[in-house]
Amino acid sequence: MNDCIVLDGKKFASEIRSKIKDLGKQFIEETGFTPGLAVVVVGDHPASKVYVRNKIKQTEEVGFNSIEHKLPTNVSEKDLLSIVDHLNHNKKVNGILVQLPLPEHINSDVILDKIDPSKDVDGFHATNVGKLWSGLNSLVPCTPLGCSLMIKKLYSDLSGKKAVIVGRSNIVGKPMAALLIKMNATVTIVHSRTKNIEEICKSADILIAAVGVPNMVKGTWIKKGCVIIDVGINRIEKDGKNILVGDVDFNEAIKSSSMITPVPGGVGPMTIACLLLNTLNASRAQYNLNEIDLSSVL
Ligand code: GUN
Repeated sequence: MNDCIVLDGKKFASEIRSKIKDLGKQFIEETGFTPGLAVVVVGDHPASKVYVRNKIKQTEEVGFNSIEHKLPTNVSEKDLLSIVDHLNHNKKVNGILVQLPLPEHINSDVILDKIDPSKDVDGFHATNVGKLWSGLNSLVPCTPLGCSLMIKKLYSDLSGKKAVIVGRSNIVGKPMAALLIKMNATVTIVHSRTKNIEEICKSADILIAAVGVPNMVKGTWIKKGCVIIDVGINRIEKDGKNILVGDVDFNEAIKSSSMITPVPGGVGPMTIACLLLNTLNASRAQYNLNEIDLSSVL
């Protein structure tokens, strides 16, 4: 029987939020200023509505101010740019998040590029992407940041370890690769055009699945003792019920892996916790205070 650790992301995220609440209190006492996070949501994409509701609730729970802009689906790109510009100049706003996806008539790249990089708590601005790849301090995309904190629970250094990332998105796959390189892993990204995906996955000591295909990674793709981080959140129908599953076939994978994140309750809750961490760090940087590295205190 393999002793696989199923990492409880809900519990870990709750520990992170409680730490952020304490650090936030210290920041408010030091500066007399309460961190503020602005969330901009366009239209009524059902998943976005749930995310945004949770973001606002958890922002308030840690004692930060939440500013919400709900805009109709037909808002123009020009008006959205003007809202972002106002938020860039609003001193009460330290972090800005524009919920994706945006409607088709709006170019997301143009909007993301408008956000002041020092308030870019999603870490999507080209300035922050460049800093991350250069190994400089920057605001880092929340989901890969959460994954790296989970990995750091096991290893602080990945020298000699092989990490394989399934998926090359700007939100997860690419920034995850930069973070793993920073931890000294040898990193491979596989994607829809890669040959022999199964064989490459089988060589991984750390496997990150972020591709959005339900149960794609099978038990036979996994090396014994592998650490698996499953970023996928896929809604499927099973036995007449709607359920959430990851990109990894969990029931098969637990037989050979040494650690795995479940879906739901694994990586998902870490994303908002890391958004709050980024909001705190953006606020601290704006007051010339040092960045908090939570991996050293958890
Ligand atoms: N939509 C899905 N995930 C994310 C995220 O991390 N940030 C933003 N802005 N939109 C998203």
